Amino acid sequence: MNKTHIFTILLITIVFNIHAQPPKNLSPINQKVEQLLTKMTLEEKVGQMTQVTIAEFLKTQGDKPVEPNQIDVDKIKEGIFKYHIGSILNVSGGAYSREHWFKIISDIQQNASQSRLKIPIIYGIDAIHGMNYTTGSTLFPQEIAMAATFNPELVRKAGEITAYETRASYIPWNFSPVLDLGKSPLWPRIYETFGEDPFLVKTMGAAIIKGYQGNNVGDKYKVTSCMKHYLGYSYPLSGKDRTPAWIPDRYMREYFLPSFEAAVKAGSHTLMINSSEINGVPVHASKYLLTDVLRGELKFDGIVVTDWQDIKYLHDRHHIAATQKEAVMIAVNAGVDMSMVPYDYSFYNYLIELVKEGKVPMTRINESVRRILKVKYQLNLFETPVGNPSDYPKFGSEEYSKVSLQAAGEAITLLKNSNGVLPLKKTMKVLVTGPTANTMRSLNGGWSYTWQGEKNDEFAVGKNTILKAIQQKIGHDNVVFEPGSTIDSLLNIDATISAATKSDAIVVCLGETSYTENVGNIDDLNLPSAQLQLLTKLAKTGKPVILVLAEGRPRIVTSAEALSAATIMAYLPGNEGGNALADILFGDTNPSGKLPITYPRYANALVNYYRKNIENGNSDDEHGYNPLYEFGYGLSYTNFTYSNLKISKPNLTDGQVLTITVDVRNTGQLEGKESVLLYISDLYASLTPDTKRLRGFEKINLKPGEVCTVKFNITPKDLAFVNEMSKLVTEAGEFKIQIGNQLQNFNYISNHDIPSRTGKL
Ligand code: BGC
Repeated sequence: MNKTHIFTILLITIVFNIHAQPPKNLSPINQKVEQLLTKMTLEEKVGQMTQVTIAEFLKTQGDKPVEPNQIDVDKIKEGIFKYHIGSILNVSGGAYSREHWFKIISDIQQNASQSRLKIPIIYGIDAIHGMNYTTGSTLFPQEIAMAATFNPELVRKAGEITAYETRASYIPWNFSPVLDLGKSPLWPRIYETFGEDPFLVKTMGAAIIKGYQGNNVGDKYKVTSCMKHYLGYSYPLSGKDRTPAWIPDRYMREYFLPSFEAAVKAGSHTLMINSSEINGVPVHASKYLLTDVLRGELKFDGIVVTDWQDIKYLHDRHHIAATQKEAVMIAVNAGVDMSMVPYDYSFYNYLIELVKEGKVPMTRINESVRRILKVKYQLNLFETPVGNPSDYPKFGSEEYSKVSLQAAGEAITLLKNSNGVLPLKKTMKVLVTGPTANTMRSLNGGWSYTWQGEKNDEFAVGKNTILKAIQQKIGHDNVVFEPGSTIDSLLNIDATISAATKSDAIVVCLGETSYTENVGNIDDLNLPSAQLQLLTKLAKTGKPVILVLAEGRPRIVTSAEALSAATIMAYLPGNEGGNALADILFGDTNPSGKLPITYPRYANALVNYYRKNIENGNSDDEHGYNPLYEFGYGLSYTNFTYSNLKISKPNLTDGQVLTITVDVRNTGQLEGKESVLLYISDLYASLTPDTKRLRGFEKINLKPGEVCTVKFNITPKDLAFVNEMSKLVTEAGEFKIQIGNQLQNFNYISNHDIPSRTGKL
């Protein structure tokens, strides 16, 4: 570098840092951030805001990366030295081994350490159900199944293990959890959510964030979470991924915002934006959502990263920007801190031009770069850009897979058990059949070793499919396998029926193969008819049919399901899912999962459990709310009896707590776990209230004959809803509590002047 160069850098640094004056009384990390910021050129700052995919830095042969992937020195040097990039993401092809990740990350960080300011790269990955992009890692059930456990402590533990194994792969930033509300069963990413209920989603979201981050994300066993996809991604009108949503502000705040609000409170350091549009506004262009609500109201001060290529899509897909450059201007001015570009340096080039032209203020750039540098310091990346391989002896350990097994065992949900057909006896001859019986694709789903999970069977070798787990449980000689059908056509049906007639019981495994995002779009929620035919034909043999559903979303099975003797929802239960299911089928685990989503009866009746009263139907309208299985439903091999619901006072007023207690007794013969769900209904309100809402839950374990008094504390805030003015209020009036079959009403008497339509108080 010659003197003119140094002078130019100094001059630019001074000019562009006019607005970067450090405020007083800063924390030690903020002081470091400010010191670094004052040294940075505009180019270095904009580089920090640029995130590029790993594929762009790999050595290639023809147009394919060489296998195993290797960092191309020239490409990484260009990215780091010429474009000053701040972040890299993703994996190329399929999962890497820990050793391979070490080489890749070391090569990247070594180059970063040679850059002028030695700012480390922050590497991000989608470790959404365990570190699913490292071979030999612990894969947990997908979020929908984790929600079915109704056990936040178990979810926290899974988060902790995922953080450990992600750092063991030298990556400090996890693009998880999905905090979208799983309202539409059609949406191909519903399995990535914690289900349809806002309280369940926010509780599980906060729990997994605690697990990922602990108290200090700089710890070598912790990562920063990335709450996604802010906001309203999960409810496209068509059910198809990234298609338009119409969500009024009031409903956005009532149903979709609470999980993000709770995640900010839980300390999540980063957030990813919803790729699609709401009410005609792509969220990447929404200053209202990205700045006014997120920063102004929720007080989020971490990094906001775009989703994949989404600034470009403001032009290419959404057509709200006439040029790519305008798209960059709109997004950054709306509040984007980092662009997941991810294939080139266009964002970098345009943003520099825009700042120089005065179209993006320098204050906006400084604000973003501050946030990015702060998270890098918090993650301890400056001191330890690459972890120490020997620090992670528990990676992929037996201890960890037991937690995954426990999670699957607590998730899998028993929906029907006619005449106590389950558990089966281990001496029985069993036919195992169906397209999901012998593949790990239907246990892990998408985001497993590859984006779409198509190589699950190759990578999860050694893990048990449902078939293998049953064979291990009762011996090969007791098990006959016939596929019966593929996902959408019958296969060798005569042989299957003949095997059925010779068996004592039939386990028919139906459902879906792996998918995510638009690849998983469907035009019809009905399960393909071949699978329903298979079940119907098997039932005709007169042998008891145990239906197992291994699927990412509740596909309609109503007509055929009526013929099953037992029905089990397995969701996507992960690498230990086959074992967990076999434990339940043969009585080694007592099931305790409950549905975190409504299981619809009809493809055109997709109403969530917190429907409005008008949706309940009546004697003139038989088409009201009538799902196949309701949210919160799930059976056990023992019986739980609820009694003695009590409230601490008949009237609740401001500043007070209402204590609700209920006795739950195990009146059956087996030890078992029960999730006790507290629903409260606001009987009358100024806006139509939901029929009921989940306001608390607790999972307990009871031995036969044992009784437990479960206690919930409710404050007026827990009963609030978002009113016509988009304000969270609790209106005076009568409320109804429901726990199991126990009911009790109470009144809330407000000291505030909030209108009440009850006319009762
Ligand atoms: C998904 C995100 C994911 C990102 C990076 C996108 O296509 O929508 O959930 O984090 O890719 O892999």
